[in-house]
Amino acid sequence: MTDKFTVSHFKEFKDKKNKISILTAYDYPTAKILDETGVHSILVGDSLGMVVLGYEDTLKVTMNDMVHHIKAVSRATKRAFVIGDMPFLSYHTGISDSVTNAGRLVSEGGCKAVKLEGGIEIAEDIKAIIKAGIPVMGHLGYTPQSINLFGGHKAQGKSFEIAQKIYSDALALQEAGVFSIVLECVPYKLAAFITKKLDIPTIGIGSGPSCDGQVLVTHDIIGLAGDFSPKHAKKYIDVGSLIKSAVNNYMDEVDKELFPTIKNSFVVDEDIIKRL
Ligand code: KIV
Repeated sequence: MTDKFTVSHFKEFKDKKNKISILTAYDYPTAKILDETGVHSILVGDSLGMVVLGYEDTLKVTMNDMVHHIKAVSRATKRAFVIGDMPFLSYHTGISDSVTNAGRLVSEGGCKAVKLEGGIEIAEDIKAIIKAGIPVMGHLGYTPQSINLFGGHKAQGKSFEIAQKIYSDALALQEAGVFSIVLECVPYKLAAFITKKLDIPTIGIGSGPSCDGQVLVTHDIIGLAGDFSPKHAKKYIDVGSLIKSAVNNYMDEVDKELFPTIKNSFVVDEDIIKRL
């Protein structure tokens, strides 16, 4: 298990051809469990909107939401590298806003780096955030904050023009100084090509096995996402069914007076009851 994963490990892992594993967390207990497993990095993604807050997309997630959840995850994490997502419109209204908002996620939230969606059009914001001392992760391909431009959740990079745009954006982000780039729902041959061309690691989600690392939403791999079962994920355990079974057992035992027993309560002197 890597002792404490830092931003320098990203490049080191790529150079040594070691794979990087990243998972999302949004709360203290989940982050604590993930941290104890040895997962390299925890992303407090704005997938928070759908996964935890019940929105239909990421667009309603606010800076305050992100700070609140990044705080909980950072408090629980001793070893993994915590990355906080910059939410919709927190880096689109000017470079000064971008730096202020990235700074809030780090100083109030406690994360070690921030992630922004987009290519060359946000390169200056990225440079300014890095200049303020904050490591930045890029995010290309299907970028959920642009769902309305894409017309839904769709793989990106199947045409020559889009494939070329994703590749040139990846080069622009590397040039701007990001330490790594998430490639979301990019065809695996394009992701492999970009991964080979970059010095910094690519982190795939739905982008094939050649990426330098992988990221998934934890709820998707543990069966806590209801009926939602995206093509890019794999369910390793069905925690949802385990919870339902535990709750059914609890209700049954309450009904049959099997739980609680006096062992689950406290002792008071018999005299006190008599005096009442
Ligand atoms: O918001 C998120 O969780 C993400 C990852 C799934 C890449 O951006």
